[in-house]
Amino acid sequence: MDTIINTVETIQIDQQVIRRAGEIIRQGGLVAFPTETVYGLGADALQPQAAKKIYAAKGRPSDNPLIIHVAQWPAVERIARRVPESARLLAEKFWPGPLTMILPKAECVPYETTGGLDTAAVRMPDHPVALALIAAAGGYVAAPSANVSGRPSPTRAEHVKEDLEGRIDMILDGGPVGIGLESTIVDLSGEIPMILRPGAISQEMLAQVIGKVEMDQGLLEEHTDLRPKAPGMKYRHYAPKAKLIVVDGQSEQVIEKINALVAQMEPSKAGIICTEETLNQYPHGVVKSLGTREDEESIARNLYNILREFDQSEVEVIYSEAFQTPKMGQAIMNRLLKAAGHQKMIL
Ligand code: TXA
Ligand code: MG
Repeated sequence: MDTIINTVETIQIDQQVIRRAGEIIRQGGLVAFPTETVYGLGADALQPQAAKKIYAAKGRPSDNPLIIHVAQWPAVERIARRVPESARLLAEKFWPGPLTMILPKAECVPYETTGGLDTAAVRMPDHPVALALIAAAGGYVAAPSANVSGRPSPTRAEHVKEDLEGRIDMILDGGPVGIGLESTIVDLSGEIPMILRPGAISQEMLAQVIGKVEMDQGLLEEHTDLRPKAPGMKYRHYAPKAKLIVVDGQSEQVIEKINALVAQMEPSKAGIICTEETLNQYPHGVVKSLGTREDEESIARNLYNILREFDQSEVEVIYSEAFQTPKMGQAIMNRLLKAAGHQKMIL
């Protein structure tokens, strides 16, 4: 299959391109598109066959449900059997934005889209290209991150191309994304709202709007024996070719430890993930900075790109500093530890 690649300027959206992309989705095809979090791989959420195509293109296990992307509120009332007040309040505050809500699904949503579950995940992305595409496609776009299953989520159209060119109908290139980590997922189908995946919207921000919000215990580091509740969170998200180890502790000790470990290796085989603050304290190895700790958004935005860059080097072991930053720290560490298969050294 030839994949059509179209650049779309976000300030002046080419309506003809969007119409064509929408048409492809209506006819059951696959279109990758930018959102504010990561690139998504879109298909019509209400067509069982279209959802199946997504699983095939990504090599994704079919028990891993898809997020349905909508462009306006009434769409939620159509795909949810019941809409709790908490969902309305959160949508008012955070949509369009990096928040996905789990609700009981209505009959019109096929089990192919929900991975066999009676709940559906729904999100309104904050990106003009995504919103235009969803409207042109009929209003209900199922979209997982547009990577091959197991690789880091794509934060640029080139990443999508790397993984999926030849396997999907179209890629809309809207440039690099803003956030760089997937949306926060909150389950509103039970009695107490529960975070199933941390993201840019924190537990605190949610609690300010709807009161008590719990964190899925299966996500926490001390409970690696518990299974996370979101089916997708149990898979190792990213198995880099190199072994990844997170080194946590006081900054000077971390630097010293990493340098000692790297000193035992051939420098071209050792990777280091750090920040601007510590960049020039690592004399050996392949050193990459995620940005400055003063700007935790930059760390989130660069993480997946840096992990992909290491895959193109001959590095065999990567040591990463830990990131307990105040707002995005939980989401950053969650993704980093998943990429590391939970290999962490505490000093
Ligand atoms: O930021 C994002 O959310 C991106 C962009 C494209 O919107 N999408 C994304 O989709 O990250 P994906 O498929 O890579 O991750 C969706 C996660 C998976 O872990 C899946 O198991 C979980 O959401 N999920 C979806 N529906 C669910 C449901 N009904 N119950 C529990 N977990 C669900
Ligand atoms: Mg994904």
